[in-house]
Amino acid sequence: MASRVLNKTLAGRVVTAEEAASMIRAGDTVGMSGFTGAGYPKAVPVALAKRIMDANLRGEKFRVSVWTGASTAPELDGALAMVDGVELRLPYQSDPICRKKINAGDMEYLDIHLSHVGAFVRSGFLGKLDVALIEVTGIREDGALIPASSIGNNKVWLDYADKVILEVNSWQSERLEGVHDVYQGFALPPNRKPIPLVSPSDRIGTPYLDCPLEKVIAVVETSSPDRNAPFSAPDEASKRIAGHILEFLADEVKKGRLPKDLLPLQSGVGNIANAVLFGLQDGPFENLTAYTEVLQDGMLSLISSGKLRFASATAFSLSPAKVDELNAQMDRYRDSLILRPQEISNHPELIRRLGCLAMNGMIEADIYGNVNSTHVNGTAIMNGIGGSGDFARNAYISFFMTPSTAKKGNVSCIVPMVTHVDHTEHDVHVLVTEQGLADLRGLSPKQRAERVIEQCAHPDFRPALRDYVRRAGAASPGKHTPHLLDEAFAWHRNLLRTGSMRTG
Ligand code: COA
Repeated sequence: MASRVLNKTLAGRVVTAEEAASMIRAGDTVGMSGFTGAGYPKAVPVALAKRIMDANLRGEKFRVSVWTGASTAPELDGALAMVDGVELRLPYQSDPICRKKINAGDMEYLDIHLSHVGAFVRSGFLGKLDVALIEVTGIREDGALIPASSIGNNKVWLDYADKVILEVNSWQSERLEGVHDVYQGFALPPNRKPIPLVSPSDRIGTPYLDCPLEKVIAVVETSSPDRNAPFSAPDEASKRIAGHILEFLADEVKKGRLPKDLLPLQSGVGNIANAVLFGLQDGPFENLTAYTEVLQDGMLSLISSGKLRFASATAFSLSPAKVDELNAQMDRYRDSLILRPQEISNHPELIRRLGCLAMNGMIEADIYGNVNSTHVNGTAIMNGIGGSGDFARNAYISFFMTPSTAKKGNVSCIVPMVTHVDHTEHDVHVLVTEQGLADLRGLSPKQRAERVIEQCAHPDFRPALRDYVRRAGAASPGKHTPHLLDEAFAWHRNLLRTGSMRTG
């Protein structure tokens, strides 16, 4: 296969993954590409993990700090965590080995809003970036980099790292060229200007990433697929949650509070999000748009059926079948989608201006509308906040969704008080479970509690929650947000002790 490294200078720097990994030093901070299993480097992290394992066997400590766009894949997060090679990880991650190390206290983890990462690096808050390790689709003759299936934080890493290693992955479709839009106008206060984007389809940057050639110390050629999971059809609870949301949206249109073609959709990944997208396929809404982080199967189907006019994201997260469809029909899809840096896909200014409808999953919500997206029992991280805070705080309507129970029905996802707060009662507009939907806009805390329990809690847990509210209302010293603090936490203590919140 012909090399995709067309720039002569960089063609002279092609090396093996092992040689490139040897250029990373113990203690380095490495900014890697990758967002939701798309566009992450696939060869150098594995070679680096091998190098770290060899160092461990010699009794030497070798750890690096890893910054990415968001979650990656077993070849990156898993491989490095397995050899205890990660000192600090940021931002969102979902790898089970990393999770175990973080919760055991063996790896530091900074769970930062995805839109903040770039700005934190530019402002120097996170310290120095030694190496950027970026997967690209190809390198043009003029040295411009054709981005891969995600952009994430790649521009920031390329701008701020001392040294750059590029992985050129021939598995990525060459037809991705032109799909990306890399905004170049980032600045720090007081020099920031309005970002000139008023519609999800606006192009405000360039199709390529750029990097001074002298910074590139190695180029590695690969040919490996992204971590594309096969698509599984939505389960019954997800379908019911989707049904409640679609009914609510139709009602908002009827009341004149949403336009007929809705507003740009943001949707998290996973079963429930996909169920909503599949529901939209058969629903009454036309001419939809999406301004979101990740373009998943359901969105591509909506584009191909003509329901979704345009989708803007920072990464693909597609099943193998949909990747094939996208690549085969890129000419058709090209006019309907854009991939952007995550600083733009998740930018609060843009989310607020566009009026996104934000739909994200959660671990649990409390009766007053505070949402925990990240922690189990207050101390152990599940994944991270991801972009949910960027969207929830700035959305036109912010939805949080979960089945009403977890752990085979033993755990209520509606509790008196969440053990960790990611999204406060002020940023949560609508809660949805398979039981129903609670529209919390315009309600006081006590009114919210009643609605959340009656609309969203599982019937098995409603009597205990009602009883809590009644007794808290009588005995709580403050009557604005009534609580019995010891008892609120007894729900979680029971779960820790017995694995269940059931008392009977
Ligand atoms: N108490 C304890 N555990 C709970 C729980 C609760 N109330 N609710 C869910 N869980 C556990 C599940 O049992 C499961 O654990 P397991 O894998 O050990 O079985 C795990 O949490 C994931 O739950 P699942 O029902 O599979 O949900 P999901 O895949 O839809 O993920 C989140 C839900 C909240 C973890 C996920 O949406 C997330 O990470 N969100 C934060 C980031 C985000 O919103 N990103 C999107 C915008 S960028």
